[in-house]
Amino acid sequence: MKSIQRTEELYDYVVAHGSPPDDLLERLAAETLELGGISRMQIDAEQGAFLTWLTRALGVRHAIEIGTFTGYSSICIARGLAAGGTLLCLDVSDEWTQVARRYWAEAGLEKTIELRIAPALDSIRALPREEQYELAFIDADKTGYAVYLEEIHPRLRAGGVVLVDNVLWNGAVVDPDADDPDTEAIRAFNDSAARDERFDTMMLGRFDGLSLLRKR
Ligand SMILES: C[S@@+](CC[C@H](N)C(=O)[O-])C[C@H]1O[C@@H](n2cnc3c(N)ncnc32)[C@H](O)[C@@H]1O
Repeated sequence: MKSIQRTEELYDYVVAHGSPPDDLLERLAAETLELGGISRMQIDAEQGAFLTWLTRALGVRHAIEIGTFTGYSSICIARGLAAGGTLLCLDVSDEWTQVARRYWAEAGLEKTIELRIAPALDSIRALPREEQYELAFIDADKTGYAVYLEEIHPRLRAGGVVLVDNVLWNGAVVDPDADDPDTEAIRAFNDSAARDERFDTMMLGRFDGLSLLRKR
């Protein structure tokens, strides 16, 4: 194992040297923090920079996000899209996504991003079963991960990438005492994804664990 100890100082250094968040993203993060403990659901600045970078590197035009919250990850993905690109955001919360809508407008992304408020599974199943997305980011209810992947697969182009967040679940996946439904669901998802012949899969141990699945 090749690894170094991560400190806050080192984290700040990493962010500062890899496309740090602009004023808009910083204000969004600060406003989300005011929501209290729930703000932990938001991806951090390092992951945000990675999302923008990867979206751009893959030349993504059409992306889908499952789990939008107050909008941080959606802005990072949308900013990496190729010209004329679109991002479809799915969430159940009108309240949290109202915050996202404000920042999308401020960022000039209201025409790029479309939001559908409904259980994500219903929204995905209502989409045509045709290969239309080059990128999907799954970051909603953990017990839904397996079925989201099943429904995303036929809608993803060959070579398209599915990013799955929180696959380490704060380390609980290897804690023998952790047997809550979310942990069990993530373990089952990870086991199944690792064997899934339809994708080239790798798990990144950064953030809270991010799996990258490339459709064959
Ligand atoms: C971890 S947060 C998303 C964080 C977001 N990607 C970010 O970086 O700020 C999870 C989101 O999933 C949404 N969610 C939970 N269950 C859902 C479901 N069944 N369908 C759609 N969205 C759901 C929640 O409302 C919440 O906003």
